[in-house]
Amino acid sequence: MSSRKIKIIKDGPYRVTGGIPLYQQNIVTDEAGHTRELIDEKEFPARETYTLCRCGESKDKPYCDGTHVSIGFDGTETASRKPYIERAEIFEGPELKLTDCHELCDHSRFCLRSGGIRKLIQDSSDQEAKKTAIEEAMICPSGRLVLWDKKTGKSFEKEFKQSIVLIRDEQKQCEGPLWVRGKIPIESADGSFYEQRNRVTLCRCGKSENKPYCDGSHWMTADMKLKFRKKWGLDKK
Ligand code: FES
Repeated sequence: MSSRKIKIIKDGPYRVTGGIPLYQQNIVTDEAGHTRELIDEKEFPARETYTLCRCGESKDKPYCDGTHVSIGFDGTETASRKPYIERAEIFEGPELKLTDCHELCDHSRFCLRSGGIRKLIQDSSDQEAKKTAIEEAMICPSGRLVLWDKKTGKSFEKEFKQSIVLIRDEQKQCEGPLWVRGKIPIESADGSFYEQRNRVTLCRCGKSENKPYCDGSHWMTADMKLKFRKKWGLDKK
């Protein structure tokens, strides 16, 4: 068995090796219209090696069919290589601390329920608010949000088996990113490796401005993205 990793091919697909399981999950919403969790839709047949479309134009999705060549896909990787913790903003409440790296956001919106994660953290001496804040942070697919227990200094993380999930966003009626779980190594086209994290989301629509990571471009308009960048001061970094 070859070693488990995702290799980014220059201006091409993701080559996945080591028999990493591949699933499809759908984002479900609650009665108030907030995204709440992801449910299994499908497991793909096991393969030792496969290539996943990164340009968004394959006719054989989720697999690559070579279309990136004919459309002249520019898959240049522009994401920062600084470790997550050095880029994250810190936000604290009485019992919880949040680290938040805005530029990694895949805009799946799990952190907006019950007044939003920051409000919940402020109210975290209330056990219900604390529980909801933990749920919201742990399900954040992109790993933008990490929540820490101030007493123990430990982060709240689900233990994931190494796997890749094709996210479908029912509410936005579109396909979302690849959810890469369980610290799978991701190798850049230049041969270096990205920080290994429990959860990250990789762009598979070809439109992200923070490649290889998803930046929400699979459903957000240019105007929405601009507002988000202004709100979080991303252009000043
Ligand atoms: S899949 Fe989210 S920006 Fe491409």
